[in-house]
Amino acid sequence: MKKAVLSDRLAVIVEQIDQGAVVADIGTDHGLVPVEAVVHREAEHAVAADVNAGPLQAASDYIASCGLTGKIDTRLGSGLTVLKETDRIDTVVIAGMGGTLITEILEEGKAHLRPVQKLILQPNVSAGRIRQWLFDNGWKLTNERILKEDRHVYEVLTAVPGEAEAPYRENQEPFEKQLLFGPYLLKERNNAFKDKWMREKDNWQQILQQLANAVPTEQTTAKKQKLNQYIAWAEEVIT
Ligand SMILES: C[S@@+](CC[C@H](N)C(=O)[O-])C[C@H]1O[C@@H](n2cnc3c(N)ncnc32)[C@H](O)[C@@H]1O
Repeated sequence: MKKAVLSDRLAVIVEQIDQGAVVADIGTDHGLVPVEAVVHREAEHAVAADVNAGPLQAASDYIASCGLTGKIDTRLGSGLTVLKETDRIDTVVIAGMGGTLITEILEEGKAHLRPVQKLILQPNVSAGRIRQWLFDNGWKLTNERILKEDRHVYEVLTAVPGEAEAPYRENQEPFEKQLLFGPYLLKERNNAFKDKWMREKDNWQQILQQLANAVPTEQTTAKKQKLNQYIAWAEEVIT
């Protein structure tokens, strides 16, 4: 077996998989997650899927090199559409993409989520969009992790079917603020979290400066208001 060393980001994702789960990894690329799920989380079975043939071939080669071809099916196709009822998938992992794309995959594949008991989602950006989708679609956030690896900060969101409002009720903060920063991460405020929002704040301040020279319209005024609100929130959470 030529098993690769996991990055911290992937290790956090794998930690969220329950022992004995039946896992689908959508956008698998290298195939590391399904292999780890089978080897270390004793996943009964897994599906490794990717929309592009090159990454899927890489996953397939890696799975074969680990002797796991019989335990992990590889599927070429977009999003959740590759899943069949007979797969009995209970855990879906979608990692390493933007939050908007992950949300689109969830929305377009809703019908395939009926038997699913756990979503493990790792957006590279725009985690707030995913929180909003989970809230709107009856998924309860149960865990949020944030970590820094090299120069990147990653968020890993875990959700189960259930009372979507529950994590937001435990906090006195405005709902929109909790969606942006994450209800659990907002309480924890670790160094990776502070790093991320310090950077975002700088970015928003630059956009605000650029907008200062723009012709004032209803749109730019609304955008400035929103940015000012976000900057004020970021200042609160990083101190
Ligand atoms: C940056 S890689 C992330 C790989 C791995 N999930 C990780 O977290 O390390 C994103 C992968 O998602 C695949 N992908 C993008 N859109 C997809 C879609 N709609 N359905 C399935 N796979 C997709 C890409 O081909 C690529 O292999």
